[in-house]
Amino acid sequence: MEFIKHQNWRYATKQFNPNRKVSNDNIKLLKQAIQLSVSSYGLQPYKVLIIEDDTTKQQLRAASWDQSQITNASHLFVFCNYTQVQPNLVDEYVALSAKARAVNVEDLMGYGNFMKTKLAEKSVAEQFQWTKHQTYIALANLLAACAELKIDACPMEGFEADKYNAILGLSDRGLNASIVAPIGYRSDTDHAQHFKKIRKPLKTLFETM
Ligand SMILES: Cc1cc2nc3c(=O)[nH]c(=O)nc-3n(C[C@H](O)[C@H](O)[C@H](O)COP(=O)(O)O)c2cc1C
Repeated sequence: MEFIKHQNWRYATKQFNPNRKVSNDNIKLLKQAIQLSVSSYGLQPYKVLIIEDDTTKQQLRAASWDQSQITNASHLFVFCNYTQVQPNLVDEYVALSAKARAVNVEDLMGYGNFMKTKLAEKSVAEQFQWTKHQTYIALANLLAACAELKIDACPMEGFEADKYNAILGLSDRGLNASIVAPIGYRSDTDHAQHFKKIRKPLKTLFETM
């Protein structure tokens, strides 16, 4: 199975080669990998910003514990969850479904209303956590796709979301920086690429009943 081979190849990259850029063709594939991620109800309650601009990366590095991956990577993916689940998120999904499957919007209203009711049962804080959870699934797809393309990446929670939100103007759009992933190509001098993987043994991680 190639998947396992790719997962063993990848590692959380500490030093990127600042001179190597990911091609536009590969960026397109990575976007599709994120687009195809599963999400609860299929609502995809997030947006993904792809930062290439050096000045913006510098600002974000200062808000990321000064981690060098932010500036040295080719592209920085910032996954942003919607802070609340507004009814229009469901309406957009219903409209997309009707178009994709050639059915009338009216025929999907029952399901749409069901989703709205279930989501409205969540408090604002729960909605925030729920939308945030979905971004991690998209992150996992990005990481897996990167590994297959032999593109390096580093998932990162080591940043100050409030500062990201201010720098990128996210709060005004009802968004929050949830998780970020610089991607690019490892530096030859990144020692971390030689480290053995640390993972729990299968017998500890799993129980079969
Ligand atoms: C949600 C999340 C947040 C992480 N945050 C950081 C981070 O801020 N900086 C960093 O260098 N690595 C970060 N990592 C990388 C992990 O430390 C790394 O994935 C883990 O130790 C397993 O190692 P591997 O990815 O090399 O197999 C993060 C990983 C995840 C999944």
